[in-house]
Amino acid sequence: MLCPMSYDVSVIRAAFPALDAGCAHFDGPGGTQTPRPVIDAIAGALAAPLSNRGTTTVGEANAEKIVLEARAAIADLVGGDAGGVVFGRSATALAYDFSRMLSATWNPGDEVVVTRLDHDSNIRPWVQAAEHVGATLRWVDFDPATGELPVGNVVSELSENTRLVAITAASNLIGTKPRLAEIASHVHAVGALLYVDGVHFTAHELPDVETIGADFYTCSPYKFLGPHLGALVAAPSLLETLMPDKLLPSTNDVPERFEFGTLPYEMLAGVTAAVDYLADLDPTATGSRRQRLEQSFSLLHVHEDMLLGRLEAGLAAHEQVTVYSRAAERTPTILFTVDGHDAVDVYTFLAKRGVDAPASNFYALEASRALGLGDEGGVRVGLAPYSSEDDIDRLLAGLAELLA
Ligand SMILES: Cc1ncc(COP(=O)(O)O)c(C=O)c1O
Repeated sequence: MLCPMSYDVSVIRAAFPALDAGCAHFDGPGGTQTPRPVIDAIAGALAAPLSNRGTTTVGEANAEKIVLEARAAIADLVGGDAGGVVFGRSATALAYDFSRMLSATWNPGDEVVVTRLDHDSNIRPWVQAAEHVGATLRWVDFDPATGELPVGNVVSELSENTRLVAITAASNLIGTKPRLAEIASHVHAVGALLYVDGVHFTAHELPDVETIGADFYTCSPYKFLGPHLGALVAAPSLLETLMPDKLLPSTNDVPERFEFGTLPYEMLAGVTAAVDYLADLDPTATGSRRQRLEQSFSLLHVHEDMLLGRLEAGLAAHEQVTVYSRAAERTPTILFTVDGHDAVDVYTFLAKRGVDAPASNFYALEASRALGLGDEGGVRVGLAPYSSEDDIDRLLAGLAELLA
């Protein structure tokens, strides 16, 4: 059997100019730092002739190529169809756009299911859309003691009236990864659609929208080393059934009809570079980009698991520290509080020591309240491909100093 290549984090770190500032970054779940190839791709797009999409001039052809390449990159990343990749300002903006379109066919008596584990961007747009049309809202709870969101909790809220279930692939607060494939089969059995927030998940796991059973899957490249925008992936045939309010001269083609105004071409060049960078995390990976992504994510798991073990052992050594990330299946994202210290004080104390571990509810407001942390939340420590043992040790040293 071939031994997996080991992960050389020093090579990875050298590609991130922002790390030269010396900070230990645990704020990846809020947004990752950017590697040089992504920066270069964005600058390169702007340095070359760049016009609106078309085929006549070099500038038009460059824009066209950038868009098609970015759709192909996201499709490879999530296992979807490039013709069903919609780019938007953010995952939140896409959720609002799609909630308005989808709810246009809902009626009083129809039901919409949301969870208390989700980021508010996959709750509030559905809550408000349901309110506007008089549809009934159903809430799915997770277990704050275990962090688990059992499949049965979703199933018990489904009925023949369910039109849509909105659920996260992974909690950005405590990392929980619900069993989505199982949930999807129940959702589809009642004829409803599944809208999956993959924003946090995609930073750590290689999604396969087919296996997951997501009818709609969103992600945000700035969570996985890319620029600040959002993407939604769905089957082109499903997108064909939806018509947004749109400008008259703009195309009715899918997916373009969902992309209002001019796309941010330079950012899209950065998206492709980010996916290519992820595919090359394992320098020995071979095959198609999707295959290289699979190999690279496997290697990334080994690295993140090792760091997570070190981090969890260090936190467990302090009886004043309570860790809320407890689900059996979860991302390397730890939420904790410290007895006798406000979360913001811990964050500030660590920040003064060059450790960036922010404190908030991180817009997972319902989850934070369900955990008993109110609107204040806790300190969140997230790992990223550039996280190192030294980062973990600096965090733990800062915490030890606080508690001394
Ligand atoms: C799980 C999750 N969903 C959605 C969002 C919102 O993403 P965007 O900023 O692209 O709207 C975030 C951002 O933190 C998130 O972590």
